[in-house]
Amino acid sequence: MTHPSNQYTTVADLAPQEAALTAIRRHLHQHPELSFEEEKTAAFIADKLEAWGYEVTRNVGGHGVVGVLRQGEGGRAVAIRADIDALPIPESTGLPHASTVPGVMHACGHDGHTTVLLGAAEHLARTRRFNGTVTLVFQPAEEAGLVSGAQRMIADGLFERFPCDAIFGLHNHPGVPVGTILTRPGPMMAAGDTVHIRVKGKGGHAARPHQSVDPIVTAAAIVMALQTVVARSIDPLEPAVVTVGTIHGGTATNVIPDTAELGLSVRSFTPQTRQRLEERVRAIATNVAAAQGASVEISWEHGYPVVMNSDAETAFAEEVARELVGADHVGTCPMLTGSEDFAYYLQHKPGSFLRLGNGDSAMLHNPGYDFADASLTTGAALWARLAERFLARV
Ligand code: NI
Repeated sequence: MTHPSNQYTTVADLAPQEAALTAIRRHLHQHPELSFEEEKTAAFIADKLEAWGYEVTRNVGGHGVVGVLRQGEGGRAVAIRADIDALPIPESTGLPHASTVPGVMHACGHDGHTTVLLGAAEHLARTRRFNGTVTLVFQPAEEAGLVSGAQRMIADGLFERFPCDAIFGLHNHPGVPVGTILTRPGPMMAAGDTVHIRVKGKGGHAARPHQSVDPIVTAAAIVMALQTVVARSIDPLEPAVVTVGTIHGGTATNVIPDTAELGLSVRSFTPQTRQRLEERVRAIATNVAAAQGASVEISWEHGYPVVMNSDAETAFAEEVARELVGADHVGTCPMLTGSEDFAYYLQHKPGSFLRLGNGDSAMLHNPGYDFADASLTTGAALWARLAERFLARV
């Protein structure tokens, strides 16, 4: 039996849930928890999933929650992920549902991401118009930076314990109208690396520079030479950034110090460019220092990799989005220089990360930001329909 497309979930199907979803979203917003502290948020999610009939596994990679729903004999499985953590930012919205936790707020809309996935969860459990396995991944610590929630859930056996054929996720997008969905095949969000370069010279009296190796002059020469990395070593059609954000050294005008330190932010959109940037930064720092009789210690912190959406799954998600909101409300996302740990899932599984319009809101990570409740039914319907279409009865 084929499944008529008009029986897949529509945004209108979620309308009766809008008030309930808004209440959930505002509850989460009022009770934000920082990365690695999402205990109550995780319990709230897990309790709801259990009440709706999901097989629930708690404490996956920390406070991660996985909900599994099976229907029929279909062998396919689709995973959908929402991030659940908040940020160390004091809220300034003055809204009735503002954060009740001083200094902590959902300034990136993860309360909304969690709510749309819960909305889809409830709807899918009630309607069960699919054939296969739906795996819902509620991930903590997206904002953690190094060793984030996605890495921890994967290391805790996420894909072995809950096998899936593809994984999808979304982020809200301020400045794009509510009800609009953006997609992008290939690289969507940047890899972000943090680099510390310690320049080691030989300290001495400022009046006798010939008896020293001046790390300040060496650091300055390294900063200038680094400007050639993007300009001369990267394809002009490839976006890349090398920014020296900090430079520290010295304590007095009449002293040549032993050391000086540089701090860099390095961003790229392909693994090849990322590797090339690292090779060139290391070579320039090492060799410019050597030319001056100094040396360097380089510590390279590899942050989140590139969010690399697979072509087939992105085309599929775009098709679902067009069916749901109409082609006029589906757009192409520009490349974004921000980073996102959904990238780690995409190193293991095909999948796609989408953007959901958040209307004319404050920017992400701004103290005046709030998730647009008007987009909750669109987000929930998107996930429900995407799961139904991925696991279509044939
Ligand atoms: Ni975020």
